[in-house]
Amino acid sequence: MNKDYILKQVFEKLTTYLNKESLIDYKAPFELSDAINFAITEKGVSELEFLELINKYLDYSVNTNHPQFLNQLYSGFNFPAFIGEIFTALSNTSMYTYEVAPVATLIETEMIQLLNSYAGYMHGDGIFVSGGSNANLIAMFSARNQFLPESRYKGYNNNIKLRAFVNEHAHYSFANAANIIGIGSESLIKIKADKNGRMIVGELEKEIIASKKRGETPFFVATTCATTLLGAYDPINEIAEICQKYQLWLHADGSFGGSIILSNKNKYLLKGIEKTDSFAWNPHKLMNIPLICSALLVKTKGTLHHNIADVDADYLFHDLNMVEDLGKKSIQCGRRVDAVKLWFAWKYYGIKGYEERIDNLIRLAQLSEQKVLNRTNLELLVPRQSFTICFRYVPEIEIDLNQFNLQLREELRKSGKSLVNYGYIGEKLALRLVITNGEMQEKDVSLFFEQLLETASVLEKNLTLEFKKY
Ligand SMILES: Cc1ncc(COP(=O)(O)O)c(C=O)c1O
Repeated sequence: MNKDYILKQVFEKLTTYLNKESLIDYKAPFELSDAINFAITEKGVSELEFLELINKYLDYSVNTNHPQFLNQLYSGFNFPAFIGEIFTALSNTSMYTYEVAPVATLIETEMIQLLNSYAGYMHGDGIFVSGGSNANLIAMFSARNQFLPESRYKGYNNNIKLRAFVNEHAHYSFANAANIIGIGSESLIKIKADKNGRMIVGELEKEIIASKKRGETPFFVATTCATTLLGAYDPINEIAEICQKYQLWLHADGSFGGSIILSNKNKYLLKGIEKTDSFAWNPHKLMNIPLICSALLVKTKGTLHHNIADVDADYLFHDLNMVEDLGKKSIQCGRRVDAVKLWFAWKYYGIKGYEERIDNLIRLAQLSEQKVLNRTNLELLVPRQSFTICFRYVPEIEIDLNQFNLQLREELRKSGKSLVNYGYIGEKLALRLVITNGEMQEKDVSLFFEQLLETASVLEKNLTLEFKKY
């Protein structure tokens, strides 16, 4: 392959993509299969065909950098982090040893220290992991082994009936984690939340007492900050008191909302975080670092070495460099360099810059909530607590609201105007507008509502005409 030529072409494509105005060129799977030959063929493709494949890949992928990509809890483009990602790929190494990743090892160590300083973990530790779900899994696994150190060697004795407790709206990864660590997903007890989605602390204590009475062994509680659909923050301080009383491991799932800690104005939502034992924090969400960038922090140094790793591999860890080889506290051997892109971005924006980005997200979320409240045909389903606004359109015609809002969302998605997600609050389908793109501005919020209202009104008119026909 002619590297110089291809690099020049790729650079042009990058520039074009960065200025791309469309969000999605929607294609059904069969149309996509027509547009791109996915099969690997006996003979490879030419350089020209190779470049053409790049074009097609970019043409038909969702442009998650676009300010109307409001679908997931990650979005937006973070240029310094993107540069960090490119150089990470270029230097292609694995995080296990200082020997093969000297700069990245010191960068990851620095990033863990910085994240810990926000969490108030004065003697903390941590490791970058492959996502929030994995951070939750490792936290639960670590708690199990702290509680039952022998299970590291002999496995878990099921008669002990370990039980874990989470908000009923907690992320599904906890059920997977319970399954994987051998306690089973039915050992995950879901605690009722109030109407805003926050765990009811009295209910938590009731469930712990009931569990003990049944002869079970509570060991782990997760507080969610913030919940996936509603963006609700559990009251950490009060939950910490319960955990102290019953000697339970307290984990904070900040996979979505942990980065709010960067904002002096808004970090009160994480009040008490220093009392937790572990904290999952995903810079790939609100800090807009390219996927994946996720850390699991623990309050006490040595926790991960003791609870997680059982390293006996002198063919890899030679201990020659007077520095900790980070692989010794990871469940992975080969591990991506994910801290470097975060470091580049944080270096560039600085502490203050990142605080302003988070404040801007909250300000735009407040503005969005206000826009919903100001329109009679929009209904706010739950008061906004952080970055998320759950609402629906209420047409004048009598119609199934869930069906209408689903159709509205699909019209927006397939037209490429905006991509917003939905979920159910009880029986009601809620459109979930989530403000996570640090580059977003007021005009983007206004455009979202203009397009939504326009599309809804056309849909409503068409449905009214259809009704009249019958
Ligand atoms: C509250 C919460 N926890 C955990 C996760 C999982 O994080 P990841 O997608 O990085 O695995 C999510 C994802 O949206 C989440 O919202």
